[in-house]
Amino acid sequence: MSLKGKIIIPLQELIMPYFVIEGSCRVEPIKSMPGIARLSVDELLPEIRRAAKLGIKKVLLFGFCPPKYKDDSASYGYSPSGVIPQAVAAIKEKLKDITVFTDVCLCAYTAHGHCGILKSHQSPVTSHQLIIDNAQTLKTLAKIAVAHAKAGADWVAPSAMTKGQVGAIRQALDKADLRKTKIMGYSAKFASNFYGPFREAADSAPLFGDRRGYQLDYADRNAALQEIRKDVREGADMVMVKPALSYLDVIKEARVKSTRPLAAYNVSGEYAMVKLGAKAGFWDEKEMVSEILTSIKRAGADFIISYHAKDIAKWLKET
Ligand code: PBG
Repeated sequence: MSLKGKIIIPLQELIMPYFVIEGSCRVEPIKSMPGIARLSVDELLPEIRRAAKLGIKKVLLFGFCPPKYKDDSASYGYSPSGVIPQAVAAIKEKLKDITVFTDVCLCAYTAHGHCGILKSHQSPVTSHQLIIDNAQTLKTLAKIAVAHAKAGADWVAPSAMTKGQVGAIRQALDKADLRKTKIMGYSAKFASNFYGPFREAADSAPLFGDRRGYQLDYADRNAALQEIRKDVREGADMVMVKPALSYLDVIKEARVKSTRPLAAYNVSGEYAMVKLGAKAGFWDEKEMVSEILTSIKRAGADFIISYHAKDIAKWLKET
């Protein structure tokens, strides 16, 4: 089947996520996400170049932290020699016209896998007993964002759902004279079952408890809209709804009410479902991707982050 004329989303509106790992010649396929692999920087560059040739020139980078560097303060996240600053600098040096977004969170870098710094001496069993140290988390997120921006990131994307994260990052960027770096807030990020495969890819599953203490309740549409409003007030240049498919109503309302461009994140679980169903012969992968992305666009997303971005660009070239 050809997708020519079917996909109504311009390729400039698609953002392709990548998982980056230290070392060289590393291509580590992610079991729960067929077609996606963790890549070392030397493998990432040619991959981005291939995607760019097909028309995908926006990338969102996630760092994979070597387990031995994980600690309670997420220090690998803001080390200039960490894998994300290194990857960003290499892309900016070697490739032209690539817009680089970086995910700014702590979960890949903390030993316990939570998105924030925890108050000390805590070993909670449920999310409700988790106490995030808000001030410390904001400081750490700001340090990570500054490290990414210094390396050349065009956009930093805080995804920890810590209160005040966009404002704290904006302030830190301005203070470091990184005024040109923009912020994409993961504003309406729901505590979702759809992130499962991502946590394998980024090795970021929490060791105890869950993320319901800081991510949004999926029944709560108003909270999502409030978060979007707050992020805009704090200086977000773009806002996001995540996941996409189960939240089309939120996307639609956010598009109507938000004064900033809106991204929707077609997340790992949504990708995995399509892939696994196609493999089982339940549906045609291209047709399914076309329908899903069209629905996200129809709901009002200005940009779509999707692990299918490069596939779509490839399929559009087929006759
Ligand atoms: C980091 C983060 C997550 C995702 C993006 N940034 C995982 C989470 O919140 O648990 C999920 C993306 C995906 O599932 O594709 N906090």
